[in-house]
Amino acid sequence: MNEINELLSKIESRDAVIGIIGLGYVGLPLCREFVRGGAKVLGIDVDPRKIEAIQAKKTYIEHIPDETIAEMVDSGLFSATSDLDRLNEPDAILIAVPTPLNKMREPDLSYVEGSMPIRLTQVCVFLYKLMHDELSSNSAGVSATLS
Ligand SMILES: NC(=O)c1ccc[n+]([C@@H]2O[C@H](COP(=O)([O-])OP(=O)(O)OC[C@H]3O[C@@H](n4cnc5c(N)ncnc54)[C@H](O)[C@@H]3O)[C@@H](O)[C@H]2O)c1
Repeated sequence: MNEINELLSKIESRDAVIGIIGLGYVGLPLCREFVRGGAKVLGIDVDPRKIEAIQAKKTYIEHIPDETIAEMVDSGLFSATSDLDRLNEPDAILIAVPTPLNKMREPDLSYVEGSMPIRLTQVCVFLYKLMHDELSSNSAGVSATLS
């Protein structure tokens, strides 16, 4: 079985660990949805206040109540860390760090670069917002690469 099939099989059997880098407005709800789906999730963020809040089962996003954070943590499926050395643990990684537009209205990818390195066998799904006038006015884009 090649690595992709092996990974898909692990995801389907809920044996894969899903890493979500960036636990903000996109990343934290993503964690919630994966945990609700029965997946093991490791959330990673450079902001220690967010990690401390999660460990204390407290929210920092208005539309996610404390109870939801508590359910996620108590499920045993979700943990959060600011230790970037743990980036080698997940089988698949979703990146949800800021991508502010620069003067040319192109996404500044420095935060994404800051969330590297990632193991070669990990699938990186990079969420980004396409705000370029010629492309779309307000849509979310997803690209997946196997690095
Ligand atoms: N918020 C939205 O409504 C929305 C909608 C569509 C797309 N997006 C896109 O989703 C992405 C994330 O947006 P957001 O609103 O969740 O941002 P956010 O600012 O709420 O959260 C980003 C998180 O990433 C963390 N972070 C920054 N650098 C990091 C690093 N190197 N390693 C680990 N964590 C790091 C920050 O501490 C922060 O908690 C952006 O590309 C954004 O354009 C957002």
